[in-house]
Amino acid sequence: MRIDIITCVPNLLESYFAHSILKRAIEKKLTEVHLHDLRDYTTYKHRQVDDYSFGGGAGMVLMVEPIDRCIQKLKEERDYDAVIYMTPDGERFNQKLANRFSMLTNIIILCGHYKGVDDRVRQHLITHEWSIGDYVLSGGELAAAVVSDALIRLLPGVLSDETSALSDSFQDDLLAPPVYTRPAEYNGWKVPEVLLSGHEANIQKWRYEQSLERTRERRPDLLGG
Ligand code: ADE
Repeated sequence: MRIDIITCVPNLLESYFAHSILKRAIEKKLTEVHLHDLRDYTTYKHRQVDDYSFGGGAGMVLMVEPIDRCIQKLKEERDYDAVIYMTPDGERFNQKLANRFSMLTNIIILCGHYKGVDDRVRQHLITHEWSIGDYVLSGGELAAAVVSDALIRLLPGVLSDETSALSDSFQDDLLAPPVYTRPAEYNGWKVPEVLLSGHEANIQKWRYEQSLERTRERRPDLLGG
């Protein structure tokens, strides 16, 4: 999967892809992430990419032209399966969307900034609009990093144990069960006996019950009655 991220502050995102699991995924060529500085696509002086809102009102708006030029250039080079705009009024991003979109080959993620983008971008250039939660960030960069991370960790070979993404929270609409590691007892705090028993069927059963109990307690909405 290739992800092209369009932003006017690429520095904000660079370090995120330069460490840990995402860095290794890129090095192993399991994914490609390309950051595009919107300011490289403007024809205005001083690398301007935003302007005042027509009709007045506080806040600057990202202009349609540099965004269109950047997207068209990318589209000349390859086909894209989705052009996603990160925005607080988009569809709520979740694990199901992550699973579905991790199967795609090429996607573009556009980060908003300031008051957002000229609405003609949304009307003519964007195929999907996603929010990562009901709060407003100062830009879409963190949201784009969240989405990229959620997609990339699902790609085959990215996680060392390929089954580990399957046992994440939200797969099967259940929260993940608790996990423990050594020592088996610390300060008198004990690891549940069943996990030390070596009895695989009992362990699976215990984990499933714990998942169900956690979900019932913390996120009954996932069980949907
Ligand atoms: N940009 C600003 N806030 C956002 C949010 N909650 N989700 C996605 N993009 C955003």
